[in-house]
Amino acid sequence: MKDKISLLNEKISLAHKGGGQDRIDKQHSKGKLTARERIHLLLDDGSFEELGMFVEHRSVEFGMERQKFLGDGVITGYGRIAGRLAYVYSQDFTVFGGSLSETHAEKIVKILELAMDNKAPVIGLNDSGGARIQEGVNSLGGYADIFFRNAIASGYIPQISAIMGPCAGGAVYSPAITDFIIMVEESSYMFVTGPSVVKTVTNEEITSEELGGAITHASKSGVTHLTADNDKECLLKIRRLLSYIPQSCEDKVEDLPISLGEEIRENLDTILPDSPTQPYDIKEVINELVDEESFMEIHPNFAENIVVGFSRLGGKSVGVVANQPTSLAGVLDVNSSRKAARFVRFCDSFNIPLLVLIDVPGFLPGTDQEWNGIITNGAKLLYAFSEATVPRISLIIRKAYGGAYDVMNSKHIGADLNFAWPSAEVAVMGAKGATEIIFRKEIKEADNSEKVLNEKENEYSEKFANPYKAAGRGFVDEVIVPSQTRRKLIRGFRMLENKKVDRPNKKHGNIPL
Ligand code: HXC
Repeated sequence: MKDKISLLNEKISLAHKGGGQDRIDKQHSKGKLTARERIHLLLDDGSFEELGMFVEHRSVEFGMERQKFLGDGVITGYGRIAGRLAYVYSQDFTVFGGSLSETHAEKIVKILELAMDNKAPVIGLNDSGGARIQEGVNSLGGYADIFFRNAIASGYIPQISAIMGPCAGGAVYSPAITDFIIMVEESSYMFVTGPSVVKTVTNEEITSEELGGAITHASKSGVTHLTADNDKECLLKIRRLLSYIPQSCEDKVEDLPISLGEEIRENLDTILPDSPTQPYDIKEVINELVDEESFMEIHPNFAENIVVGFSRLGGKSVGVVANQPTSLAGVLDVNSSRKAARFVRFCDSFNIPLLVLIDVPGFLPGTDQEWNGIITNGAKLLYAFSEATVPRISLIIRKAYGGAYDVMNSKHIGADLNFAWPSAEVAVMGAKGATEIIFRKEIKEADNSEKVLNEKENEYSEKFANPYKAAGRGFVDEVIVPSQTRRKLIRGFRMLENKKVDRPNKKHGNIPL
């Protein structure tokens, strides 16, 4: 037995060497950690259990039968994150550039199936040259086997993808189906076709970083939800993200004990500027409302006119969606609508209540918006809120105009509690625009049209630029003093804790994708 155990130990230590010390050194010289180092940073100390360490590829083409590495370029298994079960796979760039063979794919599929069967999150650490070129269609089949499981697992267990190196070609579609992508700056990129193909087809000269680096996808395409300065920060962000998310759709996140509870937050009474047209940073309002330092923004650099993220409120995990007046006055447009819609759907899939802060002047006008489908994209957000059955609380801070009033978690589309601050203006549009339309004739014919415009504008403001008409109809449940908002929200979410809504039985809805 002793000999057999030492043979086993030799094999284990060989597997731990991956593609060999030279390739490990090369990985480190690029500022990247190895696949194993990443897993150890991601998971609680000593909790990792590896599966499939001795798997080898079956390829015999191009002399591959003489090049075998234990594990075949991906390390798979399970462990704990803050004590909770999590499944993980981590591609090893030191073995055939982390490329995906048939057996490499089988290992990932096994992990996805275990995660689904045992209802726990799965985290993929991607660092791969794509399909194992020597394997051809077997590798492509392997990818599709993974995509299929990702799609089936969607909405059932949380799936997170870290991009920590190359991720190109069809390989991008597994992360794209998962719930969150986080990319490491300067050492990772994602694209369907790389710079050389781009140059051939469109004659554009572009670097990998510009085409598909972390900053590009965080700000231009919105493909990545988060970025990190380096591997370590990326893994720590994943740990933090998971702290707001339950194990599966059948589970809820445990409330945290908190030292401070329903205290009054005096700052909120003076947080808005005096002028209703002056912008303010909605993130300051969010931070005043939620538990200390609990706000984790998602998609911070994309469609900045809407802010989404997770936080804790009285210890409870909640998803926050908020218009941002400092960016495009907080209007809804194509990108902000689809950003928020995806976030709302995630929260609803995983039983995370929604807090919606509203200060929205309407939808962004223009050919660019219309031709890029503001109709379909705006409808995504409307649809996502309408179908959400989690507890939903709205707070109208200032403007709630036009169609955007309906879309932003209004009472009419199923919000449970709708609060408004006294500064709220619930109307079809702003007073100036409204006056110019309904009093066009009077203004035109008046000797002093400026004076008439001002008078009519004031009259319209007095009548409609307040929360009381909406409160009078019950569309707003309560007009509240800002400093008391935290208390109202904590009590509201507690009151809604056992909410259960049944919707008509159907195969699935048809969200306007
Ligand atoms: C097999 C691969 C590989 C691959 C890299 N390697 N990519 N082996 N299949 N796809 C190997 C290299 O031969 C090398 O082996 C080692 O990995 C490291 O690669 P380097 O080129 O030395 O590293 P680097 O300079 O950092 O460049 C990384 C890279 C480059 C940009 C990813 O390797 C590259 O362009 N690879 C090919 C990418 C590609 O075209 N993949 C197929 C995409 S199509 P040694 O032995 O020297 O260490 C695709 C379709 C998927 O993925 C469709 C799914 C539906």
